Amino acid sequence: MTMEKTIAVIRGDGIGPEIIEQALRALDAAAARYGHRFHYVDADMGGCAIDRWGDPLPQAELDKCLGSDSVLLGAVGGPKWNGLPGDKRPEKGLLRLRAGLGVYSNNRPARIWPQLAAASPLKQEIVDRGIDFLIVRELIGGVYFGTHTTAVENGQRRAADIMSYTEQEIRRIGRIGFETARKRRGKLCSVEKSNVLDCSRLWKAVLHELAAEYPDVELSDMLVDNCAMQLVRDPSQFDVIVTENLFGDILSDEASMLTGSIGMIPSSSLGDTSRGLYEPIHGSAPDLAGTDQANPIGTILSAAMLLRYSFGLTAEADAMERAVSQVLDQGLRTGDIYDEAAPGCRKVGCREMGAAIVRQMQAG
Ligand code: IPM
Ligand code: MG
Repeated sequence: MTMEKTIAVIRGDGIGPEIIEQALRALDAAAARYGHRFHYVDADMGGCAIDRWGDPLPQAELDKCLGSDSVLLGAVGGPKWNGLPGDKRPEKGLLRLRAGLGVYSNNRPARIWPQLAAASPLKQEIVDRGIDFLIVRELIGGVYFGTHTTAVENGQRRAADIMSYTEQEIRRIGRIGFETARKRRGKLCSVEKSNVLDCSRLWKAVLHELAAEYPDVELSDMLVDNCAMQLVRDPSQFDVIVTENLFGDILSDEASMLTGSIGMIPSSSLGDTSRGLYEPIHGSAPDLAGTDQANPIGTILSAAMLLRYSFGLTAEADAMERAVSQVLDQGLRTGDIYDEAAPGCRKVGCREMGAAIVRQMQAG
């Protein structure tokens, strides 16, 4: 069935435009091969929006995203905007975008590509037990969206950021955790800090209430500090991890490194509609910007997730993921995943990596 869809594209800052360029080529290759039409609408968010509009996410740009069938994002931020106050920074644009789209569920897979097993910093025996889990991160609540204040009290500066969750916010993300585990190996680990935080005690209670509705899923609890340790000790124990916003931010960076490179990891963010936000989990890497060294695979795999979860295009998404695997088989590596000692590997730039993936998609 032919599909005609509009995708809002946020190229962003730093390496954002370069990696997005390659992801759009991969999307075009999927469209050509399966007879779809994708229209791209550029939207500004982040540092480039600050430069152009004086605001990291003007309403008109958010409206372009809300008016599209889905949203693909590169990366935002950079040293140029670091001195700005918190609510004027590029990152604030990203938070407002996530909230504006209502995408409360951020899904970050961590799985080892067999071709890159040697790139993991973990001991081979740990890698060999298997790394294939997924972090479901609550994305539009918690301390990221609490009140932020800085004041001077008794001649001292004081800053405060409030973490708060309602049971409804916890329940809806908890459900995503259970549903996701149900489609995988049936194991859900709820990660919190219930020995210290009220938010975490409420989190844990709500997760256990939900468990009654999912008797086929095995629920376990883990404190976040322990989880940080268990992830490097034995990541094979995890199937689906569900956690709040800040913990998920931190653990997902740790998890990405287990698999070799943060440059390989895509993410999807969804709410109650099929319109999602898809972005690699890495940042804008300003030091690499314009040098053609970035790894476009995290963004290309994010585009594959967009096809799969927003448009239901399974064969197309499979083809894109297969093409990535095939170029890795061929030994093509961007700098972040290049290992001189690995036989048969060749270091390539962002454009060449993208072109090779497109060629694989055309070849079928
Ligand atoms: C991420 C990033 C963002 C976050 C930043 C850029 C605001 O680290 O997507 O993980 O903390 O959510
Ligand atoms: Mg992060």
